[in-house]
Amino acid sequence: MNTRMPPHLRTAWRRTLLALAALLGGATLLGLAIGHAGWVLAAAALGVLAWHYWRLRRVLLGLTARRRWESARGSGAWNELDHLLHRSQAEMRARKRRLVDMLRAYRAAAAALPDAVVVVDRNTQRALWFNRAAPRLLGLRYPQDLGAPVGERLQPLPLSRWLAAGRNAEPMHDAPSPVDDQVRLNLRLIPYSEDYWLLVARDVSKLLRLEQMRQDFVANVSHELRTPLTVVHGYLDMLDPEDVPEWRPMLEEMRKQSQRMTRLVEDLLTISRLESRDSLPEETVAMAPTLATLQREAEAFSQGRHTIEVRDLAGCDLLGSTQELHSAFSNLVTNAIRYTPAGGRVDVEFARTGDGGAVLAVRDSGYGIPAAHIPRLTERFYRVSSSRTRESGGTGLGLAIVKHVLGLHQARLVIDSEVGQGSVFACHFGPERVQPRHDGPAPAHAEGQSAGQAAG
Ligand SMILES: Nc1ncnc2c1ncn2[C@@H]1O[C@H](COP(=O)(O)OP(=O)(O)OP(=O)(O)O)[C@@H](O)[C@H]1O
Ligand SMILES: [Mg+2]
Repeated sequence: MNTRMPPHLRTAWRRTLLALAALLGGATLLGLAIGHAGWVLAAAALGVLAWHYWRLRRVLLGLTARRRWESARGSGAWNELDHLLHRSQAEMRARKRRLVDMLRAYRAAAAALPDAVVVVDRNTQRALWFNRAAPRLLGLRYPQDLGAPVGERLQPLPLSRWLAAGRNAEPMHDAPSPVDDQVRLNLRLIPYSEDYWLLVARDVSKLLRLEQMRQDFVANVSHELRTPLTVVHGYLDMLDPEDVPEWRPMLEEMRKQSQRMTRLVEDLLTISRLESRDSLPEETVAMAPTLATLQREAEAFSQGRHTIEVRDLAGCDLLGSTQELHSAFSNLVTNAIRYTPAGGRVDVEFARTGDGGAVLAVRDSGYGIPAAHIPRLTERFYRVSSSRTRESGGTGLGLAIVKHVLGLHQARLVIDSEVGQGSVFACHFGPERVQPRHDGPAPAHAEGQSAGQAAG
């Protein structure tokens, strides 16, 4: 440890020692001169002690005084100490002032946010602070609701279960405001320290209205396009290419394009129909016949160009909509065949998962998909840009439909792909979607059995 004093302190210390030595020397000489050396020395020592006590008291008073403390002027060890303490106290005060100013600025910024912000005590779930937008969007009253339990105060919102989930609480995308149910809120719970959460509520009414308008627009336009397309189809069917042979290529192209347009309109209507629903009819989806139909469709679509195997290892059924699930699975199988060159393999496997759920996986040995495209595949009209994709003549709506159908079954689509190796599209269903299959094969014997046989 470095115990060396700074030079100015050393000088002050030396001066004090010299003053003391001079005082005691003078007292000794005086004592010797008048013959009462002992008394004079004792009086001088007491005087020195009293002086030091007085200086110590002054420093202590200065430290404890609330008012600004004037630093002592002059030199000497006590003055130096006094000066140092005064300086560090002034620095501390300046730092505190800066921190308070900063805190005020942050508070003012949070208070001025257009979103409602509430600081919630994690343990008691009481509101500790809220900004100006909180009364307008959440109906909190200032100051009565400071310290009130948030779940209780925001009664109409289903907050208690959400607060109980805490860190794992999923954002609430669309909840009515307790003040006005025409105002729709997006609520988030953000844990920002061990003890505090931020509850943030954003007014998304305008956004949701726009989204609704977009959905209605797409649904209406698709619906309106249906009739003219049927008329065009009808006339095209009436035209016989044999009548004017040179028109044959043109007629074929027109038929192909009008069929493509019909498919596009049908797909858009399917998405609009799925979007407008919160749930689907729940029935037992018999998986053995569904898988058998998938196999037949796949073989018809491939026309012998691929090796296709459908395996039913789960021995259970699903709970949901037979029609919509069949359409989703069929989309995946069609894609697998479409994006796998002739001679490749397509495997469809229905199996149980470790958590008691079930998974339907479609695996192909096709072209594969570059990783950058995978997160965007389920967007409408999103297609991996390549000549192969363009040739396939798809619309880019297939996987968007799959995503919607699975969403309505609380299921997930997991995509795994490697360029040049192939892809796996797996639909994961939770245990609540699994139904026992009464007349189907037992799982232990199901391994390796094809769906065709299972449906047999
Ligand atoms: N199994 C697959 N292997 C490789 N690429 C695939 C596979 N499945 C989908 N893709 C890519 O994802 C894109 C989107 O697929 P999606 O099914 O949504 O549309 P599409 O097949 O082009 O048209 P459609 O609406 O007729 O299904 C495809 O264009 C293709 O590039
Ligand atoms: Mg497709």
